[in-house]
Amino acid sequence: MKSQLPQNFKILYTREQIRDMVAFMAKKIDRDYPANEELVCVGVLKGAWMFLADLVREIERPLTIDFIRASSYGHGTKTSGTVRILKDIEVDIRGKHVLLVEEIVDSGRTLNFIKERLAGGGALSVKIASLLDKRERREVECMPDYCGAIVPNHFLVGYGLDWGERYRNLGEVYQVVDEKLY
Ligand code: IMP
Ligand code: MG
Repeated sequence: MKSQLPQNFKILYTREQIRDMVAFMAKKIDRDYPANEELVCVGVLKGAWMFLADLVREIERPLTIDFIRASSYGHGTKTSGTVRILKDIEVDIRGKHVLLVEEIVDSGRTLNFIKERLAGGGALSVKIASLLDKRERREVECMPDYCGAIVPNHFLVGYGLDWGERYRNLGEVYQVVDEKLY
């Protein structure tokens, strides 16, 4: 697979580095919630699927998994201002601790919107775990409670992150170096 990658992809995080970040985050999550208190992990589709799969395997407490999908990017790399729910959660979150799982926070619009919505749905608490945080791009308030790394303002692919729906399956995170299209 690697031999077929475009030359302008520069590795930012290796599989080992990602594994360490995920393990670190899971430990902190386990420490923060009361022992044995159940967690509802809600992955934000599609990008969070790989991170969610790795994160929940490291969390040592009873948990359930669900997904939500909201529109943000189309096939380009620019975010649109409005957020729409394309697929809602299916479990009952009333009185439950909810952990929103994202692979990256950019403008913050998607998570800000989803968090408000789930909090309004009667969750006991709603926290955010995002592997990456492109903090300098923030347009609305959104602070991940758990974060693996703060990343610079570059377009990234791999480990769930796509470019026109491709490259989500890469096990590493790459920076797209020639960013004319960004
Ligand atoms: P936000 O609403 O602007 O925070 O958008 C967040 C979503 O945009 C993320 O969950 C990703 O799916 C996508 N996104 C943000 N930055 C990148 C990137 O560098 N590469 C690919 N997708 C990205
Ligand atoms: Mg995402």
